[in-house]
Amino acid sequence: MIEPAAPPLAHIAIIMDGNGRWAKSRGLPRIFGHRQGVEAVRRTVRACLDMGITHLTLFGFSSENWRRPEREVRDLMHLLRFYLRGEIAGMNAEGIRVRIIGQRQRLPQTLLTLIEHAESVTLDNRRLNLTVALSYGGRDEIVSVTRSLIEKAKAGELDAESLDEEYFAQHLFTAGIPDPDLVIRTSGEKRISNFLLWQCAYSEMIFIDTHWPDFGRTHLEDAVREFRGRERRFGATSIGSV
Ligand code: IPE
Ligand code: IPE
Ligand code: MG
Repeated sequence: MIEPAAPPLAHIAIIMDGNGRWAKSRGLPRIFGHRQGVEAVRRTVRACLDMGITHLTLFGFSSENWRRPEREVRDLMHLLRFYLRGEIAGMNAEGIRVRIIGQRQRLPQTLLTLIEHAESVTLDNRRLNLTVALSYGGRDEIVSVTRSLIEKAKAGELDAESLDEEYFAQHLFTAGIPDPDLVIRTSGEKRISNFLLWQCAYSEMIFIDTHWPDFGRTHLEDAVREFRGRERRFGATSIGSV
């Protein structure tokens, strides 16, 4: 039997979950978990650079997270501003390209300004493509693509017969970014929570019990090792089968 080669790994996407429970288990307010979560982001970005991963996407705030108490949302937006302000220069020096996907119009203007600055400063970087999903929902993304395609059709730039998956994908927030090879979710929850619904069609999923603030290089290396041992078939038959 032919042993299948380890699948290539270009893009890791992470659902960073469990900050609140991490804090609660220590008798701390939830924001302390989010703050420690920022340290885990730093460790993970560093590890990806060292491991030669070219695409990392992090789920930071979902379109449904706006339902959280106003205080927590405000603290999170503040933390995001703080993180971006402090990291842009260093990320640029490391060759990281930063992109944000999601409903930008819902984000506070001060954060939006920082995001636009980060994206333009790092535009030509290629070593690591860091995408952060903020105010992001997979269903919302698919609806907004559909809306823009309807507009194109109305303008006579698109007809139903020529619409295919590739054309559709070119209109997603993630246009130009390869689909995630591996999706990791921390904190023991085993669901997708509206993350990259289109893009994750054939991603390998790994769920780990560790809460996000405790995530680090070893967890990432373990997940990559598990991924390397998997056989991705994309609906075809196994390489070894006859
Ligand atoms: C993930 O941690 C961060 C965000 C969703 C912003 P949570 O805040 O969801 O933490 P838990 O799931 O309540 O423990
Ligand atoms: C998903 O986590 C969103 C992020 C990690 C940013 P949630 O904590 O919001 O998801 P549910 O509510 O447990 O599904
Ligand atoms: Mg959660």
